[in-house]
Amino acid sequence: MNRIYIKDLKKHIDSEVVLAGWVNVRRDHGKLIFIDLRDKSGIVQMVALPNHESAHKIANTVRNEWVLEISGLVNKRPEKMVNKDQENGDIEIEIKEIKILNEAETPAFEINSDGKDINEEIRMKYRYLDLRRDRMQKNIRNRHNVIKSIRDFFDKEGFIEIETPILTKSTPEGARDFVVPSRTQNGKFYALPQAPQQYKQLLMASGMEKYFQIARCMRDEDSRGDRQPEFTQMDLEMSFVEKKDVMNINEKALIEVIQKNYPKKKIQEIPFPRLTYKEAMEKYKKDSPDLRKNADDSNLLAFCWIIDFPFFEKDEKSKKWTFTHNPFSAPKNEFYDDLMNKKNIGEILTDQYDIVLNGNEIGGGSIRNHRPEALRKVFEIMGHKEEDIEKNFGHMMRTFSSGTPPHGGIAWGIDRLMMLLQNELSIREVIAFPKTGDGRDLLMDSPAEISKTQLDELGIEIKKTRTKNAN
Ligand code: AMO
Repeated sequence: MNRIYIKDLKKHIDSEVVLAGWVNVRRDHGKLIFIDLRDKSGIVQMVALPNHESAHKIANTVRNEWVLEISGLVNKRPEKMVNKDQENGDIEIEIKEIKILNEAETPAFEINSDGKDINEEIRMKYRYLDLRRDRMQKNIRNRHNVIKSIRDFFDKEGFIEIETPILTKSTPEGARDFVVPSRTQNGKFYALPQAPQQYKQLLMASGMEKYFQIARCMRDEDSRGDRQPEFTQMDLEMSFVEKKDVMNINEKALIEVIQKNYPKKKIQEIPFPRLTYKEAMEKYKKDSPDLRKNADDSNLLAFCWIIDFPFFEKDEKSKKWTFTHNPFSAPKNEFYDDLMNKKNIGEILTDQYDIVLNGNEIGGGSIRNHRPEALRKVFEIMGHKEEDIEKNFGHMMRTFSSGTPPHGGIAWGIDRLMMLLQNELSIREVIAFPKTGDGRDLLMDSPAEISKTQLDELGIEIKKTRTKNAN
């Protein structure tokens, strides 16, 4: 017989069905044994009666989180037994037959709660159990829905999704790289991408014109509530555009995706307000201000754009100029000459834009510096030597000298966006398998040591090991 989903039970009143799922709760009333069964679509109450002897016997043995296949009759409950506050509170399944598909040890924690008061490390260690809870199911399923809508939106707008390499080269995105040793070329290393920044610019030189990617990014930095060592971006780049074109299409995408998936949410102001970096710092002392007029309303979304960022800032330690966002950004037109003459460096503004939601930076991008002579000046200002520019960015210089259209783009932090849309306080709640603050996966137990043979093949010798608490 074909299994049906719990959400479809109402179509099968008075007939016999097969359901499969997990025991959410079991209540033993002696003769009557109640089992609330859970599948991906919902929960329903089932009852085992003594007259179906074998099923009743099995119902006596089952425990929470066992996986069962149950055949039974879908009954409407008598009026006085209807529970309006309960999902499927107007029906009950009379169990005819139970098949045990898998037994379960007593779970390490409650699955029937929102889990917010359970120690997070334990939740992460038993993530497969933790993800069963209703809150996590919703977070992960809605994440899928949002990503699907994003793909649909950009596809409809003529963008194509292109995968870019994960084994790549160290880039100056700003954070520390994760590196991967090469076996065939001992002593050399790939870097995992901090973002697909250079590749997407290469794709503009390649004539793709409208690119996007749901892209995984890796940065070796300490985690926080809104930061993970690996995270997901909606990464985008377009050719022949100005700042307003990139901002407009992204604003439209965000509005459409939210209205489709979160009809109860209210976007405070459309079009999104635009503030310069200077205005934001003067008024809110922060370049990601929270503009919500009523911070108690969990359904209120206050977006804003921050524009006109300074291009360079002095690094506190080295006293050298460094970029504030991305070395590949273009100066605003009126500062082009200053850049070329390396004058008034601290005053140069860039055509960069950040998108902020309820006080969180959920995305950022810029119009790029596609003229090789101007890009060279950026590296010179930051103190890069001629041979280093060639070694690190020679490929970009050559690309920009071979017919590269003006272009610009953006990347959204998908995890941060989902955290805010799901009213969560940490991005770990919207990532299926997140890492701890010190970068460990407690379920898989990574990072882990590798064998001597693997090390030998890679030509690597471990100088010293640091124990967990030694740093
Ligand atoms: P940026 O570094 O600003 O830009 O990243 C874009 C957005 O990604 C999110 N984000 C993170 N989310 C979770 N964990 C992290 N460690 C993390 N780091 C960043 C933020 C941020 O706004 N290549 C450029 C984009 C471009 O210019 O097109 C880039 O990566 O929400």
